[in-house]
Amino acid sequence: MAHPLVLGIETSCDDTACAVLDGEGRVLSSVVSSQLAAHRPYGGVVPEIASREHLANWPAVSGEALARAGISIREIEVVAATRGPGLVGALLVGLSIGKAIAFAGGRPFHAVHHLEGHLYSPFLRPPGDPRPPDLPPDRFLGLVLSGGHSSLFAVEEGAVSTLAETRDDAIGEVFDKVGKRLGLLYPQGPKVDELAERGTPGAQRFPVSRFGETLDFSYSGLKSQALLEIERLERILGPIDLGADLGMSGEPPQAVLDLLAAFRESAVGQVLDRLERLHERRPFSLLAVSGGAAANRLLRRELPVWAERHGIDLRLVPLIYSGDNAAMIAHAALLRQRRGLTDDPFAAEAESRIPL
Ligand code: KG4
Ligand code: ZN
Repeated sequence: MAHPLVLGIETSCDDTACAVLDGEGRVLSSVVSSQLAAHRPYGGVVPEIASREHLANWPAVSGEALARAGISIREIEVVAATRGPGLVGALLVGLSIGKAIAFAGGRPFHAVHHLEGHLYSPFLRPPGDPRPPDLPPDRFLGLVLSGGHSSLFAVEEGAVSTLAETRDDAIGEVFDKVGKRLGLLYPQGPKVDELAERGTPGAQRFPVSRFGETLDFSYSGLKSQALLEIERLERILGPIDLGADLGMSGEPPQAVLDLLAAFRESAVGQVLDRLERLHERRPFSLLAVSGGAAANRLLRRELPVWAERHGIDLRLVPLIYSGDNAAMIAHAALLRQRRGLTDDPFAAEAESRIPL
């Protein structure tokens, strides 16, 4: 086990997460506890419930992370917690716990930007791979696709600049909204993806949206088209409720599966369109793709083909670290620690919106 041992804490939304990394970035443990059941009766994430759940879950989640890593809290040498963006009350729980552990042990502390965690997560090794992660190169292109972001970042010598972001909805968000309209429960993205697998490719088409000459993403047009199409189908088929269908009568209508396949094709097509145009304007040699929506099956099939055709070194986040987790927070902190950056635990504040 290489030193320093890093404890990561992530409580920005509705997952309570804790991880331990060794000094070379190997993940010794990563535990994520979902609060889905607690929020389900309300049909969405309730901020105050999230905060209370983080407090209630922390002892078990951190206990499990330390036990799996085979260490005690006293052996932790660096502490990191997410400072934002996210739900302030939820962030405050993890951030305050992190500050307290760092202060009590006299350890260096890092207040990590959630997107910085995602940005470097493609370098993490999947579980079972004993090699330490590669050091991120001095220059690379980062693509973060999540419930809150569809963003392209240029990373140069540790400095991050935003090249493109979404003008309206994020990619994961439209998967959720289209799924919700069909009666699926949050998070709908993975279920929509799964259903789209059973649609007939090309049976229906939605155009790939562009936002003028910019490389910015825009998903609200696709969302409206998909919702209108659902309405049209409902006039033919009657009310569609896949929440009920999936539970009881099995297979959803083929027309719905085809619609979802077309929706997904356009959503993923937009990602490839932006990458293609960016590469023409400003060629890049390494692309790191992360975020919850980087779990998308079509995206994970198409990106490697695209990257190979352009001779690009593609780093696709290991599935297990695509959604929110604390290993990515500890990893980002380790990279900061190596550059000699630390935060004052008393000065670091939780913030709902902060630029990267
Ligand atoms: O990164 P993440 O866990 O949380 C945020 O920081 O937002 O991303 C969650 C988002 C949700 O919108 C979820 O529906 C979406 O990622 N997502 C997917 C898939 N798996 C998760 N979207 C499309 N296809 C998937 N397979
Ligand atoms: Zn996230």
